[in-house]
Amino acid sequence: MLCNVLIVVLTVHFVRSDVAPQLAPKLTLHHGKEIPSLALGTWLGNNTKGRVEPQSSEVEAAVSTAIDLGYRHIDTAFAYKVEDQAGRAVNKKIKEGAVKREDLFITTKLWNDRHAQAAVVPALRESLDKLQLEYVDLYLIHWPVGQFGNQSYDYTDYLETWRGMLEAKELGLARSIGVSNFNQQQIDRIIAAGLEAPEVLQVEINLNLQQPSLLAYCKQKNIVVMGYTPFGSLFYSKAREDAPPPRVDDAALVEVARKYNKTVTQVTLRYLLDLGIIPIPKALKPDHIAQNFNIFDFSLSQDDKDLLKSYDKGYRTIPQLKWLDHPYYPFEKAVV
Ligand SMILES: NC(=O)c1ccc[n+]([C@@H]2O[C@H](COP(=O)([O-])OP(=O)(O)OC[C@H]3O[C@@H](n4cnc5c(N)ncnc54)[C@H](OP(=O)(O)O)[C@@H]3O)[C@@H](O)[C@H]2O)c1
Ligand SMILES: *[C@@H]1O[C@H](CO)[C@@H](O)[C@H](O)[C@H]1NC(C)=O
Ligand SMILES: *[C@@H]1O[C@H](CO)[C@@H](O)[C@H](O)[C@H]1NC(C)=O
Ligand SMILES: *[C@@H]1O[C@H](CO)[C@@H](O)[C@H](O)[C@H]1NC(C)=O
Repeated sequence: MLCNVLIVVLTVHFVRSDVAPQLAPKLTLHHGKEIPSLALGTWLGNNTKGRVEPQSSEVEAAVSTAIDLGYRHIDTAFAYKVEDQAGRAVNKKIKEGAVKREDLFITTKLWNDRHAQAAVVPALRESLDKLQLEYVDLYLIHWPVGQFGNQSYDYTDYLETWRGMLEAKELGLARSIGVSNFNQQQIDRIIAAGLEAPEVLQVEINLNLQQPSLLAYCKQKNIVVMGYTPFGSLFYSKAREDAPPPRVDDAALVEVARKYNKTVTQVTLRYLLDLGIIPIPKALKPDHIAQNFNIFDFSLSQDDKDLLKSYDKGYRTIPQLKWLDHPYYPFEKAVV
């Protein structure tokens, strides 16, 4: 009898503490640290009227919701002007006991106007102040292209910037360091200079831009890839006139999604995950945040993967053509 009561009590206790959310699988970085394979994006993006400026707390709410749902990796940047919001949510969740700092993986980025070697550590300290954190898990050079505050070009060699990143890591302010929007030749140049290789490359990856050769290169160099703008041109609200298909109502995609009882966005994220990369879907709406995390309980058939592969057209949604004449412009017209 006593034994039965005990079992009931233990069972109830177990069920109550079992509300802990399921987490994303992890990948391992070059130096052994683990990185969650799905990140919440925090750039508010552009709508048809141009850049969306942050309000006071929409990103804070999204990050809180995401952590409750099991997200452990948050992608932000100085340039997004939301590090303060992300930091408030993260610190509140730690204070509440919902998560520990070491369970979270926080990524932020160095902006183009801090490319001088001596400017990197102070820039990171500024980000850490906004985030109210002692360290970030990952610090990335946002672009290889340098600019001064007045937008004119700064031609500082990104090898200098990388030396500043190495100092930040040495000081323990960034546990791991990497680059974003660098091309293969630019990464090779860092390695050829005898400097420690980036542990992560963050670049645009979506159905229209799958980057098979860049992914093969990174795999060979043991560089983990984070894929930004995972939904590419799926949504009519964001797709440019010249963007190739598919849109979110594409008949073939809708059919695949129906088969797995998933949405087109979930099928897309699952496919990107299967490429071995870390997708970074951004969402403010709680329903979107939840949907985008609910992708670990199904797998796509080879036929469906083949269909998704066929949408790869090498089409970029963020070509940053305004920097085309900078010597370190990274895409298609690459100059090392
Ligand atoms: N390193 C870089 O240079 C760079 C460049 C671009 C982006 N990034 C990173 O990558 C992240 C993602 O890229 P992104 O923001 O350009 O685009 P994205 O994540 O591909 O798309 C975001 C849009 O998709 C909507 N959405 C999200 N989930 C949805 C769902 N399940 N169903 C329907 N709509 C959904 C969002 O709506 P709601 O917000 O209304 O929910 C938002 O309008 C950024 O936030 C940033 O962290 C990095
Ligand atoms: C976003 O909009 C701003 C103008 O508000 C523009 O300067 C910028 O180039 C746009 N970025 C992208 C990636 O389209
Ligand atoms: C922009 O700023 C840089 C660095 O401070 C300066 O050297 C340059 O002359 C400025 N350019 C313009 C057009 O104001
Ligand atoms: C389909 O997915 C929805 C939303 O996740 C869920 O509520 C429903 O139970 C699922 N249906 C089946 C048949 O699995």
